[in-house]
Amino acid sequence: MNINGASKQIKPEEVSSHILTKLKKSAEEVVRQPIRNIVLTVPAYFDEYQKGATIQAAEMAGLNVLELISEPSAAAYAYGYDQKQDSNDNLLIFDLGGGTLDVVIVEVKNGIFNVLTIGGDTQLGGRDFDNALMDYVADIIEKKYKKKISGNVRIMQKLMKECIDLKHMLSSANETR
Ligand SMILES: Nc1ncnc2c1ncn2[C@@H]1O[C@H](COP(=O)(O)OP(=O)(O)OP(=O)(O)O)[C@@H](O)[C@H]1O
Ligand SMILES: [Mg+2]
Repeated sequence: MNINGASKQIKPEEVSSHILTKLKKSAEEVVRQPIRNIVLTVPAYFDEYQKGATIQAAEMAGLNVLELISEPSAAAYAYGYDQKQDSNDNLLIFDLGGGTLDVVIVEVKNGIFNVLTIGGDTQLGGRDFDNALMDYVADIIEKKYKKKISGNVRIMQKLMKECIDLKHMLSSANETR
């Protein structure tokens, strides 16, 4: 990593701790009181080492982790599956994120979640949709105006933002300009 011209080695947990510090501050501004105890979610495929590193990152940000739960279990909580009576079921949780696509089967037994199996694609997410749309639009622009734009960082950043907005609009509309 390059900080003010000097090269510095930084561990992933340090990067995570900076993000958590920022989130802690933002949340504190909303609730207007200090936050110390948290419940953290991690992807279902995280191993013990990755979970440990995540807890370390939280501690570096001055947070105390009450519990670490998997993201698909958090989704099941969000839909109230821990409260529903007669909800002894298997849930399929389809989580298309920015970077990865995770498909997880969670078994619900008397309000307790158990991750049965995980699958998906670690190289498929919203960012890939953005890039595909970018390539498509950049190609049209270059052909139409007979000008290369792919080397121009400023233009490409602006185009990327437009493409992401376009993608979001197409989630609720069949057509957009
Ligand atoms: N309305 C929408 N229509 C289409 N895509 C959307 C919409 N809202 C958000 N997205 C896309 O969802 C992605 C972010 O998803 P999410 O917040 O679940 O990712 P994440 O949890 O940070 O990533 P990951 O799980 O891969 O680590 C981005 O690519 C964003 O453009
Ligand atoms: Mg995610």
